Amino acid sequence: MRILVTGGAGFIGSHLVRRLVVEGGHEVVNLDALKYSGNPANVKDLDGRPGYVFVQGDIGDQPLVERLLRERRIDGIINCAAETHVDRSILDPGSFARTDVVGTGVLLEEARRAGLQRFLQVSTDEVYGSVETGMSTEEDRLAPRSPYSASKAGGDLLALSYWTTYRFPVVVTRGSNTYGPNQYPEKFIPLFVTNAIDDQPLPLYGDGRQCRDWLAVQDHCAAIEHVFLHGEPGQVYNVGGGNERENIAVAEQLLACLGKPKSLIRFVQDRPGHDRRYAVDCRKLRRLGWQPRVPFESGLKETVEWYRQHESWWRTIKSGEFRTYYEEMYAKRLKESRGVLR
Ligand code: DAU
Repeated sequence: MRILVTGGAGFIGSHLVRRLVVEGGHEVVNLDALKYSGNPANVKDLDGRPGYVFVQGDIGDQPLVERLLRERRIDGIINCAAETHVDRSILDPGSFARTDVVGTGVLLEEARRAGLQRFLQVSTDEVYGSVETGMSTEEDRLAPRSPYSASKAGGDLLALSYWTTYRFPVVVTRGSNTYGPNQYPEKFIPLFVTNAIDDQPLPLYGDGRQCRDWLAVQDHCAAIEHVFLHGEPGQVYNVGGGNERENIAVAEQLLACLGKPKSLIRFVQDRPGHDRRYAVDCRKLRRLGWQPRVPFESGLKETVEWYRQHESWWRTIKSGEFRTYYEEMYAKRLKESRGVLR
């Protein structure tokens, strides 16, 4: 198939593009606006490869999207392009609504008008909101609580409305917390790993007992490809790794991988509206033929090793725009922090 992958220079997008081109034998047009977390280095190895084209541009640029779909004779779209970081959505909610809702709307409408065979919207388990007990199923009501998750819920519902209204064949995946190589170091695992390598404090929010279900990026991409090819139109599929862990346990585990002391952990002021727990029931996707393969312990070890081996990749990021963000997000918190673990 000829697939337009958006956000293909980002974390999940770059792994997905590589999988589709190298393993799947698909032709891929990678459309990425190269905003702060889109990084050409993530897909540099694909440059010049037959069947692969990179285009810099925004999913909200309607004439560009319309032209690409027509000129490149695209069969389907996988929309990975998004503003993704909850903390940034608290600082600047507008950009989340613009990309995750309005941008998704532009893609959907152009895809429908061009008569594409398939549209996969990459959504998130955060649309269900905080789940104190049990697991979210695809039928559960959405209760997003941050500007990020509310914007993703908007894009997710808009996509589903295209099936209900136009019988345009959309599918939606709702993935859990994803980790692996090339993840921008604002996120929990790469931030903590890279800080620990430099013996810098690890800012753990609140009591550190929040729970996330960790999903290896390879498993997430396999799920996206599987749903894109085999999912039933109009359906939603949860994607989870089955690795529920408290944040503090993950922090301690990655410190152990690096041989660094627990005293690097600092308890800092919590994220406003911090969701306590996410957990998704993935039986529907298992019935469709997917299951996660990477155990968290080995996946985390390999990820830590990747960051150890690729210092220039993350040091370039951490010495740029990231510094201003880090200062704004963490300086005051760290000054007022507690470190109680030995
Ligand atoms: O659940 C899927 C979602 O996972 C994706 O849709 C989002 O794009 C992705 O960012 C992620 O959201 P989280 O907010 O769960 O991820 P984050 O890496 O920001 O944080 C993971 C947990 O770690 C969360 O409970 C907050 C905590 N945390 C995070 C940071 C950055 C800290 O304690 N300290 C930190 O400095």
